[in-house]
Amino acid sequence: MADSRHATVLVASNRGPVSFSLADDGTLSLRRGAGGLVSGLSAVGASTDVVWVCAALSDADRAASRRAPGGRLDLAGHDTGGSALRMLPIDPGTFNRAYNGIANSTLWFVHHMLYDTAIKPVFGARFRREWFAYEAYNQAFADALAQDAANGAKVIVQDYHLTLTPHLLRQRRPDLRIGHFSHTPWAPPDYFRLLPDDVARDVLLGVLGADHAGFLTDRWALAFVDCCREVLGADVDREAGTVSYEGRKTQVGVHGLGIDGDSLRERAAEADVLARREALREVIGDRKLIVRVDRTELSKNIVRGLLAYQDLLRNHPEWHRRVVHLAFAYPSRHDLPEYREYTAAVQRVSQEINDQFGSEDWQPLILHVNDDFPRSLAAYRLADVLLVNPIRDGMNLVAKEGPVVSEGGCALVLSREAGAYVDLGDDAIVINPYDVRGTAEALQQALTMPAEERDARCRRLAAAATALPPQQWFANQLCELDD
Ligand code: F6P
Repeated sequence: MADSRHATVLVASNRGPVSFSLADDGTLSLRRGAGGLVSGLSAVGASTDVVWVCAALSDADRAASRRAPGGRLDLAGHDTGGSALRMLPIDPGTFNRAYNGIANSTLWFVHHMLYDTAIKPVFGARFRREWFAYEAYNQAFADALAQDAANGAKVIVQDYHLTLTPHLLRQRRPDLRIGHFSHTPWAPPDYFRLLPDDVARDVLLGVLGADHAGFLTDRWALAFVDCCREVLGADVDREAGTVSYEGRKTQVGVHGLGIDGDSLRERAAEADVLARREALREVIGDRKLIVRVDRTELSKNIVRGLLAYQDLLRNHPEWHRRVVHLAFAYPSRHDLPEYREYTAAVQRVSQEINDQFGSEDWQPLILHVNDDFPRSLAAYRLADVLLVNPIRDGMNLVAKEGPVVSEGGCALVLSREAGAYVDLGDDAIVINPYDVRGTAEALQQALTMPAEERDARCRRLAAAATALPPQQWFANQLCELDD
């Protein structure tokens, strides 16, 4: 559907494929979005009969949305990557409370089990205001989807920002086929029950408003099913992946997400990547290279990764002057104090490592905190070792991208708590992300792995990483909604 009123397929997500910035003279400039969810949904752009509904994330986005007819950015002539895109100009107070207060400070923390529970969470009056905003934000999506959907249309709702939307949409439009997909892990019942009882219940009931609830791995899907049984007392069948509650049945399914290998390799061969590759090669020389690429995100475990590198240098002095660690930790969610503090900790430990081991002719650690995708691709090309050590992660596409564009075959050191472990575990060096000593020894094993073995493993990793490209992932979700 390029511009007619009612769509047969709709996708809803908080972040859309584009964002805007606003110059002093009121001119808008557009930027393409990033992140696992947006990469996955890139497949949507290719379809002509899909409407993608997303939130305006900033003042500039709200301005762009208000200037477009009905918020339809494509109809206002913006390059939305082929998608029909409706951006919702939710008021900033509601949006911030919903996005920062509930989605990122509460649901994200619950599903990634990030709380220091002696101190947090504290569910008081402020939390209730935020929860009220989260409900309003989900209602805004449900209203927009209900308005734009043709009779019997399929609607796929994405992620923890929009857990209430399936239920709210079903109340408005019982004729629709509704799916929900979680890109995060799902918390096990004992941790999920940190949420106030009514909130825990509403989150589960919200997702159960869908006909199909999708997850990236069996582990997250089963955790959801277990929460439905223990929190709601729902009738569940773990084998069949069904949850029956109050007369409705929701099918729970697993759809792993991988990389579009051809397009990533093409992108990694473009001039901007090659220029950055040369610049990196110049700095690294013939030393071994350990690479990590992350948002500066608590769950990515960057600090322990740096401590592991420090441990490696302490216990294996033979690597002094012979290895460089490139750590790309680009900014994320800086409205949250925990993220600002974490960024400072990353910088502090990095400085400490360079002070402790660096010399005139060797900087052991190079930290970059600005986002530069072509530079990340250049680093993947050159890496001898890729370190991916999240404490918990829905999938982790970095673990999949690295082996796909590697030139000489990189060894992957991978956390067993990343969803990607399911697809890549056999050929990675697998770690417990809390075990710094163990991670250091995994780095040592990766650095000393014979070239042929590294190459062979890397080829198998690349094959596994590209087995389920986003187009397939998206098509599978639509299929699940067939009668
Ligand atoms: O599911 C997690 C996720 O949506 C990822 O797909 C993405 O990388 C990340 O969160 C982005 O978060 P934000 O939109 O807050 O930057």
